[in-house]
Amino acid sequence: MRAVTVSEFGTPPAVRDDLPEPVAGPGQVLVRVQASSVNWLDADLAHGLFTQTAPHRPIILGRDFAGVVEAVGEGVCTVGIGDEVFGEVPMGEPLPAGAWSDLTATGEHTLTHKPAALDTATAGVAAVAATAAVLAVDALDLTPGDTVLVVGATGGVGGIAVQLARAAGATVLAPGLPEDEQYLRGLGVNEVLPRGDDAFAAVRKHRPGGVDALLDAVTVYEITPFADVVRGGGRIAATTEAAGYGPGRTNITRGPCTEILGRVARHLVDGTIRIPLQESYDLADAAKALDALTAHHTRGKIAVRVA
Ligand SMILES: NC(=O)c1ccc[n+]([C@@H]2O[C@H](COP(=O)([O-])OP(=O)(O)OC[C@H]3O[C@@H](n4cnc5c(N)ncnc54)[C@H](OP(=O)(O)O)[C@@H]3O)[C@@H](O)[C@H]2O)c1
Repeated sequence: MRAVTVSEFGTPPAVRDDLPEPVAGPGQVLVRVQASSVNWLDADLAHGLFTQTAPHRPIILGRDFAGVVEAVGEGVCTVGIGDEVFGEVPMGEPLPAGAWSDLTATGEHTLTHKPAALDTATAGVAAVAATAAVLAVDALDLTPGDTVLVVGATGGVGGIAVQLARAAGATVLAPGLPEDEQYLRGLGVNEVLPRGDDAFAAVRKHRPGGVDALLDAVTVYEITPFADVVRGGGRIAATTEAAGYGPGRTNITRGPCTEILGRVARHLVDGTIRIPLQESYDLADAAKALDALTAHHTRGKIAVRVA
């Protein structure tokens, strides 16, 4: 079986075609993968960030997938052979499982049916980013009239969160580069603010009393500095563990599940959200896809074509 693997951390991911095919254990679904995407988890794994949770080698990279059910394990009752599905191989699955692979085995609860109206490439980039965005916007409990600041709106999570926030009736502010203005407005951002240190003053200028809610999808290793521009009693969510702790603060750590993936599928089909695909790479070029995420300016999702 073909897969993109990391054998030694710090070495570039490599394509191999000599790996044994996985089997669907009890409660698992074996998926023939057609499409996937690049997430920061892949970059983190490739750089050895989770060495303790990933003791086995080689590790197969790739978390998101869309594909066709090849086999089902004992007890699986919601999908059958030949069904089109999408989802995520979670970090909790015994590594080295991954989706940058011809076949992947993952728990039944980590996927859902792909609606016929949803194209495979979009389904293949959706699970990780859209689940995080749905959970974050749920946590912010937005109502019409609220103003929310989305930091990281040009990226996978933030771009989807912007659209969900607008659908909830909120006004969205987002920092971006000058060249991002049209892109961000196209997603529904009401006010594009300068990115960097000027962002704080810009938020204060637009909302002197502070914003009602904040999603930070950028800050790592510290509590979000944007908390200073949230009004007293406002809500803060982060996908980077930057929300801090206490009332109104939520760190999104949960992975995809069938119920949330079903909501994502419905949002994509009814047009509540769309997921811009910045670039698409063949599986053989997955290392370049990783570089593109980490070294280039990201707008939307970077797709990986597996089949
Ligand atoms: N908890 C979860 O379940 C979960 C799920 C998905 C993702 N995450 C995490 O959430 C974070 C975002 O993920 P993602 O997939 O959306 O990443 P992404 O696609 O790289 O998006 C981040 C975006 O933010 C932009 N950005 C960087 N610094 C900024 C700043 N100071 N102000 C405004 N925008 C800025 C980036 O631009 P540049 O490309 O120019 O830097 C990029 O466009 C990552 O840390 C990821 O690990 C967590």
